[in-house]
Amino acid sequence: MSRPDVVDSVVALRARIRDWRRDGLRIAMVPTMGALHDGHLSLVKIALERADRCVVSIFVNPTQFAPSEDLDKYPRQLERDLDMLAEAQADLAFTPDVSEMYAAGFATKISVGGPSAGLETAFRPTFFDGVATVVAKLLLQAAPDLAIFGEKDYQQLCVVRQLCRDLDMPVEIIGAPTIRDAHGLAMSSRNAYLDEAELEIARQLNLILREAAAALAAGANQQQTIAEAIRALTAAGFHKVDYVEARESLTLAPWRQDRVGRILAAAWLGKTRLIDNLEVPAV
Ligand code: PAJ
Repeated sequence: MSRPDVVDSVVALRARIRDWRRDGLRIAMVPTMGALHDGHLSLVKIALERADRCVVSIFVNPTQFAPSEDLDKYPRQLERDLDMLAEAQADLAFTPDVSEMYAAGFATKISVGGPSAGLETAFRPTFFDGVATVVAKLLLQAAPDLAIFGEKDYQQLCVVRQLCRDLDMPVEIIGAPTIRDAHGLAMSSRNAYLDEAELEIARQLNLILREAAAALAAGANQQQTIAEAIRALTAAGFHKVDYVEARESLTLAPWRQDRVGRILAAAWLGKTRLIDNLEVPAV
């Protein structure tokens, strides 16, 4: 399998996209921060089922990290990523450096309301401004027909949909199911931070959410079910639970039992923060 071509400037990216457009090809984009795993590759697969060409961006976006967060130690492994993209048959990798994305004097921030309220924002208040700004830039730079985002980052997917709708961006946003390991743990670049003992605990997150989602779907009291899930996470060994919440799946408004919902959680294992979410069928 040959590696995808790599471009690191917006000018070169646009030249490649222009050539594809001239040939009448349908183009998909998969934005990533690299340290690729099977979850990312599943997005490439979906992209290539729906489009003729797939461009994958690899950019560890500094504006979505708070000063206290893991920007410096976030895993960077471009050579390995390119081998994985070869396997997935991605056509092009866009690997800008920070100065290409944020030139000196950069002064714009995109702030999405609606689904960004609460959940992640309660603990990472500037996160979605950084995500929305970089995703808007990437989608303007590549101008794809469609872009794929994982349900793993469910609130992010909702925020990106809102962004593209509100700014009339001519791109279709596709949500992709979460890829998990054999024990149900959602794949994440940050799982690389976990040691064996922490991995064992991490695997409980999905199980506990699954039990809570089943209880909610069976009509259990929402407050009690959430409280029980938080207790179970702490008992399993999570050091701190940022949130467990049930929300309405399309708008992320508070969940009502007659609507399809989503149960979302974030919890800490040592210095590693894990998130996961699951659908809650309407009662
Ligand atoms: P990153 O964490 O690298 O994720 C890139 C994409 O892969 C996101 O759409 C994410 O939801 C998806 N993804 C991650 N783990 C997954 C899994 N286990 N199954 C399915 N999809 C999964 O999310 C970001 O980067 C950044 O915020 C970004 C959107 C690139 C903006 O900087």
